[in-house]
Amino acid sequence: MTPPSEPGPAPDPDGQDGLEAQLRVFAAEIGGLYRVQKERAEQLETALGALKTAYLETIRSFAFVVEAKDAYTGQHLERCRAYGVALMEELGVADDHPDAEYGFLLHDAGKIGIPERILSKPGPLTAAEWRIMRTHPVIGCQMLENIPFMTTAAEIVRCHHEMFDGSGYPQRLKGEEIPCPPGPSASSTPLTP
Ligand SMILES: [Fe+2]
Repeated sequence: MTPPSEPGPAPDPDGQDGLEAQLRVFAAEIGGLYRVQKERAEQLETALGALKTAYLETIRSFAFVVEAKDAYTGQHLERCRAYGVALMEELGVADDHPDAEYGFLLHDAGKIGIPERILSKPGPLTAAEWRIMRTHPVIGCQMLENIPFMTTAAEIVRCHHEMFDGSGYPQRLKGEEIPCPPGPSASSTPLTP
């Protein structure tokens, strides 16, 4: 007598098993693609961070080149950076403007566009020379204003000679017309040109 045979797989008239297996394959492939993309995004973020750091360090070097060129500034840049950052921290706005530090460092960067004979003139400047000297905040702002993560820094550079009583330049802004983050720069900048 022949023993009974093992029961075979249950009939699958709708192809459900095949469909489920296919979906599992798709899900595994999508999971793999997601992991690869996530890893690439992290690598890209790390590379962008390194690029930004290198860029900011280049800016820092540039600021000190300007300082070396300008006989008036001395340790002025570093002092302004320290005072400006301290005041912004005290005002509670430092975290909202991480690029402000570079605005304080670069506030006189526009002096790169001022003739050497004016920058290094030993005696007092003439009225015409002062008009030229007083363009340096605008020149400096133009150097930064198109860089997306330097918007506050550009404002600081533009406004660093504005004074609360409206006697500053280039726009003779008064009181609260001076944007808040540049305020510390205006108040911590000694009366140099
Ligand atoms: Fe200045």
